[in-house]
Amino acid sequence: MKHLPIFPFLLTLSTLLLTSTSISTITPNQNISDGQTIISDDELFKMGFFSPSTRSNNRYFGIWYNKISVTTVVWVANREKPLNDTSGVLTLNDQGTLMLLDHTHNIIWSSNSSLTANNNIPVAQLLDTGNLVIRNENDLAVENYLWQSFDYPGDTFLPSMKFGIDFVKGLNKYLTSWKSVDDPSIGEYTNRFDSDGYPQILMRKGSKVEFNSGYWNGLRFSGMPNLKPNDIYTFGFEFNERELYYKYELVSNSVVSRMVLNPEGRIQRFIWIERAGEWRLYVSGQMDNCDRYGLCGAYGICNINDSPACACLSGFEPREPEEWRRADWSNGCVRRVELSCDGGDGFVKRSGVKVPDTRRSWYNVSMNIEECERVCLRNCNCTAYATLDIKTRSGCLIWFDDLVDIRSYAEDGQDIFIRMAASELGMIIIHYIFVLVAKLAGKASWVTGQNG
Ligand SMILES: *[C@@H]1O[C@H](CO)[C@@H](O)[C@H](O)[C@H]1NC(C)=O
Ligand SMILES: *[C@@H]1O[C@H](CO)[C@@H](O)[C@H](O)[C@H]1NC(C)=O
Ligand SMILES: *[C@@H]1O[C@H](CO)[C@@H](O)[C@H](O)[C@H]1NC(C)=O
Ligand SMILES: *[C@@H]1O[C@H](CO)[C@@H](O)[C@H](O)[C@H]1NC(C)=O
Ligand SMILES: *[C@@H]1O[C@H](CO)[C@@H](O)[C@H](O)[C@H]1NC(C)=O
Repeated sequence: MKHLPIFPFLLTLSTLLLTSTSISTITPNQNISDGQTIISDDELFKMGFFSPSTRSNNRYFGIWYNKISVTTVVWVANREKPLNDTSGVLTLNDQGTLMLLDHTHNIIWSSNSSLTANNNIPVAQLLDTGNLVIRNENDLAVENYLWQSFDYPGDTFLPSMKFGIDFVKGLNKYLTSWKSVDDPSIGEYTNRFDSDGYPQILMRKGSKVEFNSGYWNGLRFSGMPNLKPNDIYTFGFEFNERELYYKYELVSNSVVSRMVLNPEGRIQRFIWIERAGEWRLYVSGQMDNCDRYGLCGAYGICNINDSPACACLSGFEPREPEEWRRADWSNGCVRRVELSCDGGDGFVKRSGVKVPDTRRSWYNVSMNIEECERVCLRNCNCTAYATLDIKTRSGCLIWFDDLVDIRSYAEDGQDIFIRMAASELGMIIIHYIFVLVAKLAGKASWVTGQNG
């Protein structure tokens, strides 16, 4: 009788606690079995068990959009180890490790973190961003998360995710394609930052580079002229001794957008169009044939508006003229005149380009372009230089290798200065005058031809 008066109070309190905290979190004595789901506080994302298609009985634990009529999975825990029935259970242990168990209680997948909850109570929470995090119950600080799914992306790059490298934790967060739309296991393609030389994003099929987004030039990636300020998302790049990443944020909560590396190796950004009930392609990483990595070979330049698209840079000629004529450009071009390397060389400026592969490059953020030229000239192996940051017009980027994967753009390209033998410098100017005169003469004769 004594306890009766406080009982309704406790009931109300526990109901309150449940409704305010239990929707998006899992605590150590809670399990999620197949059929149950957890929803983020803003109800945008949901997690639970799913099959990628009706053609498959495989069960995966993953995260997908909650409010979108087309089931769109953004992350999968057991990509490589599907369950073949609905007996799977996701559970959080006292140490703060999430584990996916099959019917015999075998661990199919687990969050693999060196950090543990120690004497704290861990919780796993599906955040509004679609990030599944494990943290100590009373500690919301991002830097103290024990584990987060954003550190282990699959094929999807979500807003506020850091795509890149955490040098402190030794994590490289990159995209891996699904094998097919029905199979989330790791497919053939990866898209990741490569930090050899100045960092750039390389899309590979197996070990072969197929597309280079280029390095971050202060405004955009050199090979992504279509990455422009827009009303849908803001974007940015960070590179310091602790981390290297690219990130984007949606401008408005009413827009849903994601980037994905699809099973065919295409990098695509989609926007959800609620009215039509479908994802619409907003922009693609690869735009055209000139985005095929190294299509024109060393010292070749690709221009999609020319036919053929490949040409040699001025002062260079095809290494294999016969192959080149047959549109096999892979062997690229060679210098007409060798460099002298005795300080007599000079540079030819090429404007409006995507700069070459930077895997064998060197950089200095505080050098200006004049210092950059001097450093390049002094080193016989230097083949080209450019301004590192075209927004602030500062920094120096230097290439020590054959120049591969250059293309020209009608707009939003940048300048590069290519090393040439002194004797060629005059020749190139004469060549340009010659071309100009020939064009004018051609035009004149065409005009007279029309008249006559
Ligand atoms: C959660 O699952 C584990 C392993 O399957 C089991 O031992 C435990 O009793 C379950 N707990 C609850 C609350 O269902
Ligand atoms: C499911 O997989 C288990 C092993 O993980 C196997 O023993 C079982 O036979 C499979 N069941 C079906 C229906 O394939
Ligand atoms: C867990 O992480 C350690 C090092 O961080 C690694 O060596 C190990 O292979 C990982 N295990 C799994 C199952 O991913
Ligand atoms: C970068 O350039 C600045 C300015 O010229 C110079 O002081 C600095 O030593 C350079 N750093 C390296 C690593 O070469
Ligand atoms: C140029 O490259 C060659 C071979 O890669 C190397 O042996 C040489 O030291 C380099 N020279 C300079 C000045 O870096």
